[in-house]
Amino acid sequence: MGSGIAQVVSLSGYRATVVEVDEDVLQKGMKHLDTALQKQVEKEKITSQQKDAALENIIDTIFLSDLSECDLIIEAAVEDIEAKKAIFSELDKLCPEHTIFASNTSSLTIMEMAAATNRPDRFVGLHFFNPVPVMKLVEVVRTIATKDDVFRDAFAFARSLGKEAIACKDNSGFVVNLLLIPFLLDAIRALENGVASADAIDKAMQLGCGHPMGPLSLIDYVGLDTTFYIANIMFEEYKNNKYAPPPLLRKMVLAGYFGKKTGMGFYNYSENPPKINNFNNIRLD
Ligand code: 3HC
Repeated sequence: MGSGIAQVVSLSGYRATVVEVDEDVLQKGMKHLDTALQKQVEKEKITSQQKDAALENIIDTIFLSDLSECDLIIEAAVEDIEAKKAIFSELDKLCPEHTIFASNTSSLTIMEMAAATNRPDRFVGLHFFNPVPVMKLVEVVRTIATKDDVFRDAFAFARSLGKEAIACKDNSGFVVNLLLIPFLLDAIRALENGVASADAIDKAMQLGCGHPMGPLSLIDYVGLDTTFYIANIMFEEYKNNKYAPPPLLRKMVLAGYFGKKTGMGFYNYSENPPKINNFNNIRLD
């Protein structure tokens, strides 16, 4: 999601520093961003001058220390609390007092990250949605320690990106994932129980409820690994079975079927259009 956030931020006229874990991932992310901007130019959504200006607004780096002059930092690292705490603890030493820290976490508690710093009052959640350039919503998350002016600034920032912002409390999953994750997991349970085939489940929710994408396609899109992390975190938090990852999800993650990004999930993306992944077949012929 990082490159999508960088795209939206730089197109809105902000100077942005993008940090990735290594050069390879950084170059891939920047290429992705360049391609996404080029598509917008081709569709005449932006001019090539706007594309060039957006790219000029971005500094790409692999060093956290290059963030030391930022007013706002949006973290979009892996959904792992220890990794996030380590990043924020280091940034806390590098950044000036006024810098606001924000996490794009899907399910972790913002307060837990804030507590790893000496600025829990300058900490918020800024939760974007996939694909970031298209989805209109940002959840702006306030912890019990967030100061009024920091929350107001974060809210205003989200709106300055052309997004609709909603305010919400620091509860795991916020609003969208609180409702979306049980629905996605239920779609996997329906497949596990043989209620219908993957494409029939997807079609049912698209045509029956007007969803732009069926739930299994959406899991492939978000990533089975990401969905699995989120479900585990929410199950741990709420101890409620509706967040428990179904065994099929766990097995698919173990098999490396992460969805679109690995070419295989509930669908096989090496085919165009993608075909159902026939992993449930136990026949020999
Ligand atoms: N980046 C930028 N633009 C994109 C894009 C991307 N990755 N993917 C699609 N688009 C643009 C297209 O260019 C197109 O723009 P246009 O209307 O100006 O031509 C527009 O989106 C529609 O795309 P398509 O015509 O190719 O395809 P669809 O109409 O099927 O739309 C979709 C694709 C926008 C992804 C749509 O299927 C959709 O809204 N799906 C649901 C997405 C969703 O639910 N996201 C939330 C996931 S949960 C989450 O992110 C939370 C996290 O914590 C897990």
